[in-house]
Amino acid sequence: MKILITGGNGLVGSHFVENYHPSLKSGDIILTPSVEELNITDKKSVENFFKLHKPDTIMHFAAFTDVTGAEEERNNKQALCWIVNVEGTANLIKAAGDQTYFIYISTDAVFSGNKDNPGPYDENYPTENNLNLLSWYGWTKKEGEKLIVNNLKNPAILRIANPVRVKYDGKLDYIRKILNLYDTEKIHPMFNNQYLTLTYIDEVTHCLEILLTKRLPGIYHISSTNIFTPFKLANFLIEKARGKKEVVKQTSIEGFLKNNLPRYPQYGGLKVEKTQKILKLKFNKWEETIETLAKQLSI
Ligand SMILES: NC(=O)c1ccc[n+]([C@@H]2O[C@H](COP(=O)([O-])OP(=O)(O)OC[C@H]3O[C@@H](n4cnc5c(N)ncnc54)[C@H](OP(=O)(O)O)[C@@H]3O)[C@@H](O)[C@H]2O)c1
Repeated sequence: MKILITGGNGLVGSHFVENYHPSLKSGDIILTPSVEELNITDKKSVENFFKLHKPDTIMHFAAFTDVTGAEEERNNKQALCWIVNVEGTANLIKAAGDQTYFIYISTDAVFSGNKDNPGPYDENYPTENNLNLLSWYGWTKKEGEKLIVNNLKNPAILRIANPVRVKYDGKLDYIRKILNLYDTEKIHPMFNNQYLTLTYIDEVTHCLEILLTKRLPGIYHISSTNIFTPFKLANFLIEKARGKKEVVKQTSIEGFLKNNLPRYPQYGGLKVEKTQKILKLKFNKWEETIETLAKQLSI
């Protein structure tokens, strides 16, 4: 296999790059170009890269992932979020052709998390088609999924939600953001009625390894087998990582939603039963992931 990895220095992709090598079959090649070497928004750069390296497998992690920043670009197809997530994906699809095995990393943000259409969502649940019910980031990732499904023969889409991992210096993940707030004495009340799932990035890497080996098509969800509220998770995390009990106060999401309606998921998250069955795996509960990471969380 000649595997092209986009976004190989990001939060999720770098874990795969760091951990997959040992299991590579001899002769397999992993390509992890920097943005300078392969800018997915530049059609010529993509075409040249493919002509030169001819990858037969693509793992597409690269994305514009700043959800708040993306909202400032809402409806703007000349701005970076659309250009990276939709046009960048289109450029890769075109250069790859339909013989390539393509894995697209996606998100639970392709679903609304709205109370009329609540999650957690299973692998077959239709993505949200009403732009008013999605964040702009979620909309562009959903458009990326559409391109993948409509233009490739046997692609895989792997959705994750709130990915967390061992220490990564590039940016703070979901649990390190909370610990950072606590450590800098800025911890604020957390929602007691928002429902989400947590993705352990080790499990993503493991699933990708299986998908790659078997070249499986289809939609996969990788996340905790149970849902959390930020209030419950934050207290559990701080107790496990800092030894302090019940330091986080609770608040309800309703006041916040009034100003941010309707693009913020109250009932989000992913169901994983089908993926677990197909891949013959059992994913962690969110508490198990936090307990595992807490041992390394004196960060
Ligand atoms: N983080 C989350 O909460 C979350 C949740 C659900 C799903 N996901 C999905 O998981 C995937 C990985 O997310 P992440 O959090 O690991 O991302 P990340 O840490 O923000 O990294 C994004 C990656 O994309 C690369 N990139 C950006 N623009 C590019 C361009 N024009 N050409 C080539 N590469 C470009 C970046 O390269 P440079 O660093 O060199 O700029 C970086 O390696 C994404 O598809 C995202 O949608 C993430």
